Formats: sequence, structure tokens, C-alpha cells
Amino acid sequence: MSIENKISRRNFLKGSAAAGAALGASKIGAPIYARVRNPNDVINVGVIGTGSRGNYLMDRMRKVDNVVITDLCDIYSPHLEQAWERNGKKGRKYNDYRKLLEQKDIDAVFVVTPLRFHVSQSIDALSAGKHIFCEKSLAYTVKEANDIVRAVHSSGLKFLVGYSRWTNQTEMIKDLVKKGAIGKVHHIFTHYHRNNTWVRFTGDPKWFRRLNWRLYWEYCGGQMTELVSHQITALNYVIDSHPISAIGTGAVDFYHEYNRETWDNVDVIFEYPDGLKVNSTSNFMNAKMGNSIEYLGTNGTIEPYRNKIRLYWETQTKHLQSLGIKGAYIKLGQSLKVSEEAVKVPGTEIEVPGERKNLVVHFFDCLRNDIEPVINVEEGRISSIQALLANKAIRLGRKVTWDEMLAEG
Ligand SMILES: NC(=O)c1ccc[n+]([C@@H]2O[C@H](COP(=O)([O-])OP(=O)(O)OC[C@H]3O[C@@H](n4cnc5c(N)ncnc54)[C@H](O)[C@@H]3O)[C@@H](O)[C@H]2O)c1
Repeated sequence: MSIENKISRRNFLKGSAAAGAALGASKIGAPIYARVRNPNDVINVGVIGTGSRGNYLMDRMRKVDNVVITDLCDIYSPHLEQAWERNGKKGRKYNDYRKLLEQKDIDAVFVVTPLRFHVSQSIDALSAGKHIFCEKSLAYTVKEANDIVRAVHSSGLKFLVGYSRWTNQTEMIKDLVKKGAIGKVHHIFTHYHRNNTWVRFTGDPKWFRRLNWRLYWEYCGGQMTELVSHQITALNYVIDSHPISAIGTGAVDFYHEYNRETWDNVDVIFEYPDGLKVNSTSNFMNAKMGNSIEYLGTNGTIEPYRNKIRLYWETQTKHLQSLGIKGAYIKLGQSLKVSEEAVKVPGTEIEVPGERKNLVVHFFDCLRNDIEPVINVEEGRISSIQALLANKAIRLGRKVTWDEMLAEG
């Protein structure tokens, strides 16, 4: 756990009582996991946001024993109707999520709406006594990131954030890094590159903005919150840290249609403690580099690749001192003979064993067995603040520090 994590957890726990009052503690009923601890007890689920991801998650839920999707909500009726059909024409339907939350027999709620609504809907759902699976990115502002941590702690309810970092691959990379397999990690490069505009809906103009919400700041934080947030969550978990500052650049340089606001390319450098830098880029004009992360250490490089982990070893000799050559100097015209050719062939390839981890199954296990979700609200808070940090640095065109972000909330 990083320093800020440790400190913030303490502070949040301290502030919980006040937050409980702010939430209307009387509205928070007894934790409902008491009712669903028995594996044979049915867990009733309400889904807020029945778009693309909502349907993906519902397909997964329908495969879990004793889980029933009882309630569906979406502001856009065609999505609501399609999801209801797919649910075997079962479930109560709403256009207003507050009506869904009024249903006393719902145990858990999945919040699968655009980022702008995640925290407000989650806080309302906690007040209604529901456990929550909330999609990433967690918070739209720093203040929201802090509010939701307090609200979760004071509720005693389960809260899971749907980042994609929970994989056997990431667990193995964390282990390799911790054991010093590649020496001291000094740089991490992440790329989230696609050839894609994010425009998905061109129907009724009345719905254009709401359904192409990723194009507008009103609803999300663009590539940082929607894409890069997955990678920074994973790498923070691997190195057990978070940045102290960021600088970056970003713009709408290629896709000017539809008065697009969110950038189509971002390049950010995060500075971490102890000299570590994380270089994160995302663009929508070239997919060659795809979705990738590379961990660069003094002795080698780790690269997750499909269901493998590739390790590349540094073959070049280290600088002169490490060879025991003291006081060495280079004569004029003498070459250091250091090859700058990239190490392209992995020295070692490790197969990632085991089944894919399933966050949806895990979420229901948390409810039944009273365990802490693997991706909890605090991890979501850190990741959210980091994405917002990058966006602020880009907007201001200067280095922005973590402490400056904390002052916002
Ligand atoms: N974890 C992942 O890998 C992953 C993948 C994709 C999307 N997501 C996340 O899931 C969420 C939804 O993304 P999506 O691709 O399904 O988007 P989407 O546009 O397909 O679906 C969002 C739905 O929410 C509805 N909606 C909007 N505002 C609402 C409101 N106030 N109340 C109720 N419904 C509302 C929209 O009408 C739409 O049907 C986003 O937060 C996104 O970041 C996560």
C-alpha cells in the first residue's frame, strides 16, 4: 500500500462518522449481506445503464447461480427495451434510477452509466442500502473521489470498481517486479492506441451527445479516464505507488467532427517517487502499438503479451564503474562501443496459467462471504485522481503535482 493510500485510508476512516451523517445515516439499513450469505439465497440485482458494457456485465451475471437481474434502468428507451428482451423479457423497467433504488428487494446495483454519473448514483445507491459494482473510471472530480470513499466506509456495504487489472498476468508481473527480476524499475511505458473516433451513434440528433458521451467533457475525462485509467490502475498495483506529478500534452488534432471536445491524442509523463517515470500515450489514429505496457528495469524489461509474459534481458555491459574501471575516461575519437540496437528477442517467455479471473463472480462472492473486493473504492480514488491529474497538466500546460490535486477535494 502506498504512503498516500495508507494516510488517506486513516483519514477517511476518521471522517466516516461525519460522512455518514451527511449521507443520512438513518437511510442506510443493516448491511444486506446478512441476507445473502447463504450460497442458496438469491441475490437480486438492479442495473443502471443498459448500454454496451451493461449488457456485457448482464451476460456474465446470468451465468452466476442464484443471481437474478430484477430491475433495469436507462434514460434511453431503445437500450432499456433491448436489455429487457435479452433478459428474457424479465425485470422491472425505469428511466429514472431513483425509482429503481426505491425497490427494497434489490440487494446490489451495477452502475454502468457514463463517468459523470458514477459517484452521484453510487452515493444514492449506498443510501438505499445497496451493494455496488461501479464501472471505471470511478470519479469525475477529486471531491467526488473523496466523497465516495467516505460514503462507502460509513455504509458498511460492498463496493467494487470495474477496472480490468485483476488478471493472473498482472499478479505474476507484480511478483516478478517485487522479486527484482528486472532490477530496479525506472520507466514504464503504456500505450492505448486505436484507430477509432468513438462516434457510435448517428441517429436522432436529440440523443447524439448523450450516446456519444465519450466525446464531451461534460460526461467524462476522455482517453485518460476511459482508456489509460485501466493501465495506470494496473501498474500502480504492480509497483505499489502513485505519481507525485505529471506533465503532458493533448489535443483534438484529427477528428474535428461533431464539435468533439475530448482529445484524440494524449502524451503524459507521470513522475513517481524514487526517479520512476511513467510515459502514457493514447491516440486514435494508429493502432499498431495497441494496448500495451512495458516495465523497464536496470537488468531487463517485462512485457505482457497475449497470455504470456515476455522478459527481455539487458545484454549490454553496464557503465564503466560497474565493470570496476575506476577513473576511466574516453580518449578523443574513442567509441564506448555501446550498441543502441533494441533488444527485440525475448530472453524468456512465461505462459500465464489458470482461468481468467471474473470480477462479476468475485463481486457476488464478496457479498456472500463478506470479503473485501479486490479492486476497492480506495484504489478507484487513486486511479481517478491520477487521470484527472494528467488532464489538468495538459489543460494548464505545466507540471501539476499530486498535492495540488488533493487541494481540489
Ligand atoms: N471495465 C471495462 O473494461 C469497461 C469497458 C467498457 C465500458 N466501461 C464503462 O462502462 C460505462 C458505460 O460504458 P458503455 O460503453 O456501456 O457506454 P454506453 O453509452 O454504451 O452505455 C451507457 C448507457 O447509460 C445510459 N445512461 C446515460 N446516463 C444515464 C443516467 N443518468 N441514468 C441511467 N442511464 C443512463 C445511456 O443511455 C447508455 O445506454 C462507462 O463508465 C465506461 O467507462 C468499462
